[in-house]
Amino acid sequence: MTVDADIIDGLRDAGLVGEGDVVLEPLTGGVSCDVWKVETPGGPIVVKRPLPQLRVAAEWLAPVERGQSEVRWLRRARGVDASIAPEVLAELPTGHAFAMRFLPGCPVWKDELMAGRIDVPFAAQVGQGIAAVHAATAHNDDDRAAFPNDAMFRALRVDPFLLYVAQHDAELAPVLTALAGDLTARKIALVHGDVSPKNILVSAEGPVFLDAECATYGDPAFDLAFCTTHLLLKAVWLGDARLNEAAVALVTAYRAGIDWEDADALLLRAGELTAALLLARVEGKSPAPYLTDSVHKRAVRDQARALILAPQPIDALVANWKRNLA
Ligand SMILES: Nc1ncnc2c1ncn2[C@@H]1O[C@H](COP(=O)(O)OP(=O)(O)O)[C@@H](O)[C@H]1O
Ligand SMILES: [Mg+2]
Repeated sequence: MTVDADIIDGLRDAGLVGEGDVVLEPLTGGVSCDVWKVETPGGPIVVKRPLPQLRVAAEWLAPVERGQSEVRWLRRARGVDASIAPEVLAELPTGHAFAMRFLPGCPVWKDELMAGRIDVPFAAQVGQGIAAVHAATAHNDDDRAAFPNDAMFRALRVDPFLLYVAQHDAELAPVLTALAGDLTARKIALVHGDVSPKNILVSAEGPVFLDAECATYGDPAFDLAFCTTHLLLKAVWLGDARLNEAAVALVTAYRAGIDWEDADALLLRAGELTAALLLARVEGKSPAPYLTDSVHKRAVRDQARALILAPQPIDALVANWKRNLA
């Protein structure tokens, strides 16, 4: 029996499809999973199965249990606000695959940004949504116990984004190593771990967050930094001031949602992490694929290096971020 047949059997056992033919239509975009769209009597669904190895870089081994983390995150986020995550319909017995409702007519935010459709209020809603999950899960022992994913977060986030650069840059190594240690040690709230525009759908009700495979109980500053980094990189690449505005709106809305700790302390940690992540996207293991122009790379690298050595809180960082150094 092929693995796909296993998936179809799982969908039948879950009562999602009948005895007739079932077509698994691959959805584009994924590097860490098989993702399919399946038409069912109850409407279209998405089936997602983690790959044992990510397609981007052979060394990035990641346990398939991350499928389970994703399901847990999606359910928890819907408990906070049902509009911000797709409904999980079933967990399948094969390889931590699961089924969720397909959201029709919802473009991926990254595609919208790349096409120059930069909706600043939507960026604020993204900040609000991330903060809502953090606020609901902050200092919560049950959530902490449900997401014991330190090893995965280290393998997929801390090592490639912080420590890899540290190993290749003697001047920045002490700062980046300390930052990695601090990030790993801090257990404050439920972190999504991959809040990138490519993992956010634009629905009529606002953002819908996908792809929570890296979810862990950790430092909420990471999610804010990760998403902001994407907007700042795209601001350099597209040279569009509205992306700077979107980053400011995201940070401002997020800040308004911080009720679990001192906001200034969190914004400073997020600023430090953003600087490190920006550098990682030009010098790390997972470079931003669109940043190939040496002028763009230099704009990111020079600003990121300066910010790593002299950190700014993320609100100041986004306000001062330059799209070009000319
Ligand atoms: N529930 C959903 N509704 C609509 N489209 C979805 C849904 N889930 C995933 N997709 C589409 O599939 C793509 C890949 O899904 P994602 O969960 O991000 O997987 P990967 O881990 O492979 O990146 C998304 O960018 C989106 O275009
Ligand atoms: Mg994705």
